[in-house]
Amino acid sequence: MKILITGSGGQLGNELISILKTGKSEIGEIDKSLLGAEVLAIDVDTLDITKQDETVSFIKENRPDVIINCAAATNVDGCESNSDLAFKVNAEGVKNLAIGAKSVGAKLVQVSTDYVFSGEGDRPYLETDPINPQSVYGRSKAKGEEYATKENDKTFIVRTAWLYGYIGKNFVKTVRRVLREKGGMSVVNDQIGNPTNANDLAHHILKLIPTKEYGIYHCTGEGECSWYDFAAKIAELSGFKGAVKPCTTSWYNTTYNVPTKRPSYSSLENAHLKETVGNEMRNWEEAIEEYIKNVKD
Ligand SMILES: NC(=O)c1ccc[n+]([C@@H]2O[C@H](COP(=O)([O-])OP(=O)(O)OC[C@H]3O[C@@H](n4cnc5c(N)ncnc54)[C@H](OP(=O)(O)O)[C@@H]3O)[C@@H](O)[C@H]2O)c1
Repeated sequence: MKILITGSGGQLGNELISILKTGKSEIGEIDKSLLGAEVLAIDVDTLDITKQDETVSFIKENRPDVIINCAAATNVDGCESNSDLAFKVNAEGVKNLAIGAKSVGAKLVQVSTDYVFSGEGDRPYLETDPINPQSVYGRSKAKGEEYATKENDKTFIVRTAWLYGYIGKNFVKTVRRVLREKGGMSVVNDQIGNPTNANDLAHHILKLIPTKEYGIYHCTGEGECSWYDFAAKIAELSGFKGAVKPCTTSWYNTTYNVPTKRPSYSSLENAHLKETVGNEMRNWEEAIEEYIKNVKD
């Protein structure tokens, strides 16, 4: 099997590469059919997915069996101020990959986000719930989902949230850095979601790809919490117990001039995983504990 990973230098891309290399994730071993798979891992310096002709030609030349698209414009506030770029990468780029995938009969995994929902729910969102994105990032990712499914019927849409991996920037590393530099911080206590270890997400993407169970999947850490709860746990595990204080979104947004509306409740239920390949996502507290033991900075 030949697997093309786009955006491979990012958080998720790095976890996929490492699991495919060793044959196991932090959860367990991967499907035998993936052992010895040929992995073609590329990033924007090799292929800019916004360029349609180059993207389709690249796929036709390399003829992967599966494309896992980890490439995205992920800076939520950056997307809000540069909507052209957001739609180019998160929507048009995905369309280009889906057209390429279709041309060689490849499966496509398009990674998406909780931001496709309104974020005003009062129970975890199911894959069947209607979307209603409230930000440029959310709208561009929703368009990407639409293109991926429309252009290639062999598509898995995998929505995740609050992602942290060993390589790259994320909330966990930011909290640890701020605590090291300043000794304390305030974090919002009225936005609820699911912290997700990128290694766990990668494990489940690799469970899906040998199957033909195409469709939309939610794949987030089990259990839900606020950003404050998450930061307080990170602080405790990093030797800064009690250094994080709760605050409200309204105070935080005014104080730090935040331009993008964040979901107040965007927990996802991993319902489709449970029905198909199984949901082995770890509880968020268990997953962050192992991450803090292993992370290098
Ligand atoms: N991070 C989160 O909390 C989160 C939450 C929900 C969903 N997701 C989704 O999960 C997926 C993986 O996220 P991640 O955190 O691993 O992302 P990431 O670390 O930001 O990595 C994204 C990668 O895509 C590359 N890229 C950007 N524009 C590109 C282009 N035009 N062509 C090719 N590559 C391009 C980036 O390169 P440069 O660094 O050089 O720009 C980077 O290597 C994304 O689809 C994201 O939307 C993430």
